[in-house]
Amino acid sequence: MNPFSLVNKNIIITGASSGLGRNCAVECSKQGANLFLIGRNMSALVQTLNECLNQENHQLICCDLLDTEKLKQIFLPLNEKFHFHGLVNFAGISLTLPFRNTSDSKLNELFQANIYSAVNVSKLAIKSQKDSSSTQFSLIFIGSIMGLVGESGKFVYSMTKGALLAGVKSLAVELAPKQIRVNMISPGWVQTPMTENQYYAKNQEAMDELNKKHPLGVGKPEDISWACIYLLSDAARWVTGTNLILDGGYTAK
Ligand SMILES: NC(=O)c1ccc[n+]([C@@H]2O[C@H](COP(=O)([O-])OP(=O)(O)OC[C@H]3O[C@@H](n4cnc5c(N)ncnc54)[C@H](OP(=O)(O)O)[C@@H]3O)[C@@H](O)[C@H]2O)c1
Repeated sequence: MNPFSLVNKNIIITGASSGLGRNCAVECSKQGANLFLIGRNMSALVQTLNECLNQENHQLICCDLLDTEKLKQIFLPLNEKFHFHGLVNFAGISLTLPFRNTSDSKLNELFQANIYSAVNVSKLAIKSQKDSSSTQFSLIFIGSIMGLVGESGKFVYSMTKGALLAGVKSLAVELAPKQIRVNMISPGWVQTPMTENQYYAKNQEAMDELNKKHPLGVGKPEDISWACIYLLSDAARWVTGTNLILDGGYTAK
């Protein structure tokens, strides 16, 4: 028996149409998971599916996670037909903005995209976990080291990730009696469409600086995916309420 296997596990991944979510889908498919991939862009989801192994075992769900009603309609039949074993909440957006430009609309936008979306889908995904379930459900939130340490212009983004981290601990305590484990992964800088689009990513000097801040260099998407596989698997059956910091040493200094 391989405790890290995801064979026969039904795993939901949000943000699966891009970056870390896409890579996580591909890596989880290699471990035998049956995947439910959520994103807003169907052609990008199809691209993810094309990169996965065992394509016939996976389902694509095109939905805006802020559309609570549509999400409910989607999960109603899914929860009747499937027992889910895990959810990874990758969907989110980033923002670099000086404090003086912070506005109600920016606060709303970031809190909606990074917190409300994850709460909406998590509530629905854990419904298939009955009190009597003999198997565990692994709920994973994706934070950021910006929820732990500071950086200029990251006030709003940091607040969303810090709030998630605080919530994860209480949720872990609340849901443990139902055998639902709740954990967070806080990545440092990993190259994805999100980070490539940041203004500093086009500036070699800024990128050299960023690299230096990570003693092991910046990360690759697999560095996050492999940690997800661990937390989703039975190998992590005693792990809940934790924050796994994956940052090449950024916060060690
Ligand atoms: N990359 C990094 O260095 C890094 C570091 C720390 C933390 N993170 C966190 O990791 C997560 C993934 O980041 P990434 O770099 O992979 O970003 P990305 O490539 O921009 O992907 C973001 C994903 O979120 C989805 N999404 C956003 N809003 C959504 C909504 N309302 N409904 C449904 N899907 C939505 C997007 O879906 P569509 O494309 O279909 O719209 C996309 O698949 C984010 O939470 C980010 O904060 C990333």
